[in-house]
Amino acid sequence: MSSWINQTPDASPLPPVVRGEGVYLYDKSGKRYIDGSSGPALFSLGHGHKDVRAAIHKQFDTLEYGFSMDFSTEVVEALSERLVRHMGSHFGGVFYISSGSEATETSLKAALQYHVANGHPSRTKFISRRFSWHGATIGALTVSGNLGRRRLFAHALPEGVFVSPAHAYRPPSGITPEEIPAFCARELEQAILSHGPEKIAGFIFEPVVGGSLGVSPAPEGYAKAVRAVCDRYGVLMIADEVMCGVGRCGTWRALSHDGVWPDIMQIAKGLSGGYMPLGAVLLAKPVLERIKSAHGNLEAARTYSGHTAACAAALAVIEVLERDALIEKVAREGDYLKARLDEALGQIAEVGDIRGRGFFWGVEFVRDRETKEPFAPEALLHRKLRARCLENGLIIYPGSGIADGRRGDYAIVAPPFIATHAQIDEIAEKLARSARQALDDIRH
Ligand SMILES: Cc1ncc(COP(=O)(O)O)c(C=O)c1O
Repeated sequence: MSSWINQTPDASPLPPVVRGEGVYLYDKSGKRYIDGSSGPALFSLGHGHKDVRAAIHKQFDTLEYGFSMDFSTEVVEALSERLVRHMGSHFGGVFYISSGSEATETSLKAALQYHVANGHPSRTKFISRRFSWHGATIGALTVSGNLGRRRLFAHALPEGVFVSPAHAYRPPSGITPEEIPAFCARELEQAILSHGPEKIAGFIFEPVVGGSLGVSPAPEGYAKAVRAVCDRYGVLMIADEVMCGVGRCGTWRALSHDGVWPDIMQIAKGLSGGYMPLGAVLLAKPVLERIKSAHGNLEAARTYSGHTAACAAALAVIEVLERDALIEKVAREGDYLKARLDEALGQIAEVGDIRGRGFFWGVEFVRDRETKEPFAPEALLHRKLRARCLENGLIIYPGSGIADGRRGDYAIVAPPFIATHAQIDEIAEKLARSARQALDDIRH
């Protein structure tokens, strides 16, 4: 019996993995798995990348961490300069933490600090969206609209303010997909007005929703419409790009697709590609300048802010993304991935929708394509799918709850950016095979 508290729903044992190479992982028995989802949309460069490994080794050979309250390092300076260069000079600076949840904590605190700096300490509430995930810490959970992950803790969380997601497959009742931007902007405005603009600090959202909606890019015009509402009432816009950012959707920033700049942006996962734990928060120039002029600096110190070896890993990841033009590759080949998914899965009657952008796609399973009725949660389709995928040597990101919190099974397909056409074909074929088997499993 393992003493390790793993995160499987029933604490069941997991296969021991021992080696990674490119898009493949190998377990102790020698079995090979193709990483169809980069784990949780994490390993953008795949596994065992020699340049990233070398950069981490080199850093460890000289210094593990120049503690950020005592020292700067060349690595942290270079990484920050590179991030601002790629994400845009709109941003005035970068703060580092070790995860996406901590990024959310930092964003919320930065927004509060900004309003205090402006003499508006009454702005303490955040508006977020249903079907969203911003992290597992209490603060991040408070603004997360993922019902399944809130369930055991909701009673202990401060009350949040939630609005509709901009989800084209299941739009709000009576609303067409084209009407979503205007509807959501109105809803956001009403939420601000009903609580009082002087009470609202920020609006946090995922430009392309990940696990909580089985990948859902906002319809055209949504981001601009909510940006305008935020501007009207002095509410800071926080873009959570932890899952969809750093190239996953074919652009450095997911929101650049929408032509919108957030006041605060958070990234993690693909930033260090899973080689070291790292997250970052980028503050727009006016936000950072206001905070600095009022309080000297952002009040966010952590023991591991800007850990040198983690920053060395991220810097190496960014250099590889630049050198090998991988984000351009993702932008170019997203259509190929979508076409292969359509081809492999389109004939399966229970595949209701395939949606996404770049190398970030979600497949939603339904009992009936016309009515979009989901499977019963007791059928546990997503778990059966996961088991079949593992059996067939495929790593995928499955989940449930995207229809109404309990029902709605999906699989996220998010290959490493280095995946070749043949590897994309292998992922699509194995997913289709596993889906047919899992659907058979729940019929018997
Ligand atoms: C959009 C988003 N924000 C925040 C988080 C939390 O990140 P972490 O699990 O690194 O704390 C996640 C994790 O999946 C995420 O997808």
